[in-house]
Amino acid sequence: TRPLNVALLGCGVVGSEVARIMTTNAEDLEQRIGAPIRLAGIAVRRLNKQRDLPVDASLFTTDAHELVARGDIDVVVEVIGGIEPARSLLLKAMENGASVVTANKALLAEDGATLHAAAEKHGVDLYFEASVAGAIPLLRPLRESLAGDKVHRVLGIVNGTTNYILTRMDETGAGFEEALEEATALGYAEADPTADIEGFDAAAKAAILAGLAFHTRVTAADVHREGITEVTAADVASAKDMGCVVKLLAICERDGDAVSARVHPAMIPRTHPLASVREAFNAVFVESEAAGQLMFYGRGAGGAPTASAVLGDLVAVCRNKLQNAKGPGESAYAQLRVKPMGEI
Ligand code: NDP
Ligand code: HSE
Repeated sequence: TRPLNVALLGCGVVGSEVARIMTTNAEDLEQRIGAPIRLAGIAVRRLNKQRDLPVDASLFTTDAHELVARGDIDVVVEVIGGIEPARSLLLKAMENGASVVTANKALLAEDGATLHAAAEKHGVDLYFEASVAGAIPLLRPLRESLAGDKVHRVLGIVNGTTNYILTRMDETGAGFEEALEEATALGYAEADPTADIEGFDAAAKAAILAGLAFHTRVTAADVHREGITEVTAADVASAKDMGCVVKLLAICERDGDAVSARVHPAMIPRTHPLASVREAFNAVFVESEAAGQLMFYGRGAGGAPTASAVLGDLVAVCRNKLQNAKGPGESAYAQLRVKPMGEI
């Protein structure tokens, strides 16, 4: 069987772990997929950056557009982040018949509809498990395992950076800035950590979760958002005195023909399961009609955990390619009204 060619866009915190696992686990991946996969090129911004990776230096390029326009690419893995050039690159890739795996929640929450329409039009896969809650298998259960059920509510901690900061402030009395620096050094924060601390990242994830859970379209702009920049050491200490912890929650709910999605800090009793979610771990509860309550827990950020989700998607889309099959497309048929904040 001919090898499947994979173009990797981005080789930072997540991309470098994807490249490492693809290389070191090549034999296992070949067995699981049924054909070898080959890193055909890696697009980066800086060619001269020192990268300690077991891959051929000749694979690196700064011309991502040229890489995705090549005729021999089967799958494009996008871990650059942001709206552009990621969107144009993915649209070009799909137009050329490549399936796409992306971790880019910002793009999916802003313009997922365009990406899904392109995947549909060109008959390719669009997988994005890593975009919400890092390593935790959450989107595939919502898209597939729960497709026959009716989800009422999705609630949880979906941002590792803010959870790391709030944990440090609670447990060690660390200052906000110091804890943010640690989270950034550990590879949890976005390229611009404002996205984390102001709640934009969690809002993007809430939009993706609400869309999948309720089979409708929700964008980041529909999500009421409040970050943790106003949470002071005194707030964390008072919560502690009251037997509570402060957590940044994402809450998506369906109420008849309407949905609401919001992100804000909340005081949680220490006895609640979400209170024990520490550092960059995430936890999400899904409540549905037939299944009842489900809880998903694990590492929500960081290079290797996120690469695990990316690699799972890569195996799935490669298997589909070999079988001329396609995974689930967008299921956004419901015309649900998004409730404004005043109504929640
Ligand atoms: P990084 O900033 O660490 O890496 C970004 C990579 O993209 C770098 O390799 C950079 O090149 C490259 N890049 C930037 N601009 C371009 C461009 N125009 N053309 C080609 N390459 C470019 O980001 P992360 O790895 O942390 O995140 C990547 C994506 O994964 C984002 O969408 C993020 O939201 C998502 N994600 C991140 C998680 C995490 O824990 N970090 C978890 C879940 C999702 P260079 O190396 O030369 O700078
Ligand atoms: N910056 C994100 C977080 C990365 O801290 O959760 C994972 O999506």
